[in-house]
Amino acid sequence: MLSRIARPTSCLLSRSFSTTQQNNSNVAVLGASGGIGQPLSLLLKLSPFVTRLNLYDINHTPGVAADLSHISTKAKVKGFLGPEQLDDCLQGAEVVLIPAGVPRKPGMTRDDLFNTNASIVRDLVRAVAKNCPKAMICVITNPVNSTVPIASEVMKQEGVYDPKRIFGVTTLDAVRASTFIAEAKDLPVKSVSLPIIGGHSGVTIVPLISQCTPTVSFPQKQREELSYRIQNAGTEVVEAKAGAGSATLSMAYAAAKFAENLMEAMGGAIGKIECAYVRSDETDATYFATPVELNENGIKANLGIGTLIEYEKKLLSDAMEELKGNIKKGEDFVNANK
Ligand code: NAD
Ligand code: LMR
Repeated sequence: MLSRIARPTSCLLSRSFSTTQQNNSNVAVLGASGGIGQPLSLLLKLSPFVTRLNLYDINHTPGVAADLSHISTKAKVKGFLGPEQLDDCLQGAEVVLIPAGVPRKPGMTRDDLFNTNASIVRDLVRAVAKNCPKAMICVITNPVNSTVPIASEVMKQEGVYDPKRIFGVTTLDAVRASTFIAEAKDLPVKSVSLPIIGGHSGVTIVPLISQCTPTVSFPQKQREELSYRIQNAGTEVVEAKAGAGSATLSMAYAAAKFAENLMEAMGGAIGKIECAYVRSDETDATYFATPVELNENGIKANLGIGTLIEYEKKLLSDAMEELKGNIKKGEDFVNANK
């Protein structure tokens, strides 16, 4: 297990990359003018793996695209505004990143976003099904525990479902966990990685500190405090932003890291591993985040949950009811609103 989690080797982070693989991806960002969408689009514009970067939103994309297009990197940037331009945006897209939708304010759960964001994700994914059904779909919009099942049900309805190509982007949980553990142990942060399994909200986020690379040990109280902080780090940001939204910059970093590893794997790089919330048979929740190995078809292999210590088994057990409820809610939403 220790070697399963990808080191942060993406180009964005290290600026050292191999060009031996074919890395020329056409990428679309849906929700590109938002708090995540703009910095994510900037990071993708800086990526050597992106050839075409199409930016879609219901607001401001002409300006965002014009601004980014002046940066002297290879990706060709184009803006698409409003539903009438969505189909054009998605033509030929190989990777679609979806941060469209509203963020939390203090006092809200991610599930409180369902009523607004469910239909946004449903409609955007229906357009993906129609225009670029083979694209890798990377869902950032919350509640991820439900929006990934929504995306999957839409693809099923449209007859183009491939579970290997739909990802809930939970990379931020792993990014945070590495940061917090590196701080606690005074380790170089780039050397620290650990799997975060389950879902992406509160108790459904299950950090596996026992599987950290390098091996770290903590007194039980500190292990519990760290696990709690990882589970509630999104709320930490929501409260600090005091009504101005949730994590955007760290999320853009995390999504770009995920997308770069995915694009590298699509180009033939081997051994690219990320935790992601995917269709799963690992537990009795039908969607579940685990480390997955990526290749040109999306998920090459689900690397599973590994061996858990007793405390982590308890965290996992505490996650299951909420996670299964979130999944059912997403599936029911699509199937009740055909
Ligand atoms: P934001 O409000 O700053 O931006 C959202 C953008 O979506 C806006 O530009 C808006 O115009 C656009 N949008 C709304 N409806 C749309 C539609 N139908 N089609 C296209 N674009 C549309 O919000 P944000 O801070 O960027 O957060 C976006 C989402 O990401 C939220 O749901 C938030 O909870 C989620 N999020 C997820 C993670 C994660 O780890 N997966 C982390 C942080 C935030
Ligand atoms: C996060 O983890 O930062 C995101 O899911 C946003 C949120 O609402 O906390």
